[in-house]
Amino acid sequence: MNLTPYIPYLKNIKTPFYFYDTFFLESHLKKVKKAAEKFGYHIHYALKANANDKILHIFNQLDFGADCVSGNEVKKAIEIGISPKKIAFAGVGKTDEEIIYALNQDIFSFNCESIAELNVIQNIAAKLNKKAPVSLRINPNVDANTHRYITTGLEENKFGINQWEFDTIIEIIKNSPNLDLQGLHFHIGSQITDMQVFKNLCSRVNEIQKWFYNHNIALPHLNLGGGLGVDYENPENINFPDFDKFFNIFNSHLDKIAGQQIHFELGRSLVAQAGVLISKVLYIKNGINTNFAIIDAGMTELIRPALYQAYHKIMPLENKNTENNIERYDIVGPICESSDTFAKSILLPKLNRDDLLVIFTAGAYGEVMASRYNLRDLPKAYYADEFS
Ligand code: LLP
Repeated sequence: MNLTPYIPYLKNIKTPFYFYDTFFLESHLKKVKKAAEKFGYHIHYALKANANDKILHIFNQLDFGADCVSGNEVKKAIEIGISPKKIAFAGVGKTDEEIIYALNQDIFSFNCESIAELNVIQNIAAKLNKKAPVSLRINPNVDANTHRYITTGLEENKFGINQWEFDTIIEIIKNSPNLDLQGLHFHIGSQITDMQVFKNLCSRVNEIQKWFYNHNIALPHLNLGGGLGVDYENPENINFPDFDKFFNIFNSHLDKIAGQQIHFELGRSLVAQAGVLISKVLYIKNGINTNFAIIDAGMTELIRPALYQAYHKIMPLENKNTENNIERYDIVGPICESSDTFAKSILLPKLNRDDLLVIFTAGAYGEVMASRYNLRDLPKAYYADEFS
């Protein structure tokens, strides 16, 4: 994303705030769509990454489906105009109200995560005289090789149905007239940058799908989830992830049954690079080994560094004359927690009070995870197309 044309506007906005380059987002999404369409793959955007109306409208205009993990996300996707027929609904803890709502909307699929959930959906669907389209979210026990808080596909994780439950599952499906088994669903984790992981996933999907095939179960759909990572170290590297390479892996390694439809639920890789968080330096304070730059954004605006030790590149909004003027800083927020730290011991041009800093690659799991801890105001968002 090139912020230069927007600097005169951004300098006059009250900090901290999110800024999204809607032009970049649109062209990025068109590129992704093209790469997926080459193989006839369907993409459901994972709303949890960023659910701002303006962003969602762009997804809807470009005809993406939605992946939702709460009744409110399903509601939001429908309000924006996304067809219920393109909405997948996952999550280990769907409430009765959420299930009733989604059933009445005739969504594409409930991604079911447990035997108990299948039984509840059967009962509710029977009462409503509906047939619930379900996919089984399988826990394939494949290591995503990412941070353990965003690993979801290991047996120790709470997600999905484990292999030892398959026989019971088949019995339930056979005896549940209001469940319509549509396919299998997998999502093994997030911020996956090691492409070998997706090859491993394909091998497990092939084995599991074969098991169902051998038990005479037809699976019209396979949903491989999301998880594709971005390059947080180099925000300017917009060619990573390589979507052609990503989809090619599935095309080459997945044993697709004739006529089967392949779905993905990407979140981060679609929006992360389109957003930044902009914050102002409040105070500079000398520490023992470093200087602290205390900024007006904190873990309340962007929790990823505090929660996952995540790295986000930080740079001044405006280039300064940096020669011989580099200093070492811990970039910290104003919240009363030591984990409220964006970066430790980084080198930046000498900072002064009121300097603006850009925290890059904040378009995914940034604003949407903001909180009002310390009774702070929620951050506002601004969009490139408002400034042109
Ligand atoms: N499908 C399911 C069922 C998911 O749970 C997720 C993400 C996705 C799709 C989208 O995954 P993505 O393509 O965005 O990796 N807050 C964390 C990330 C949590 C991801 C949760 N599930 C972070 O900031 O890193």
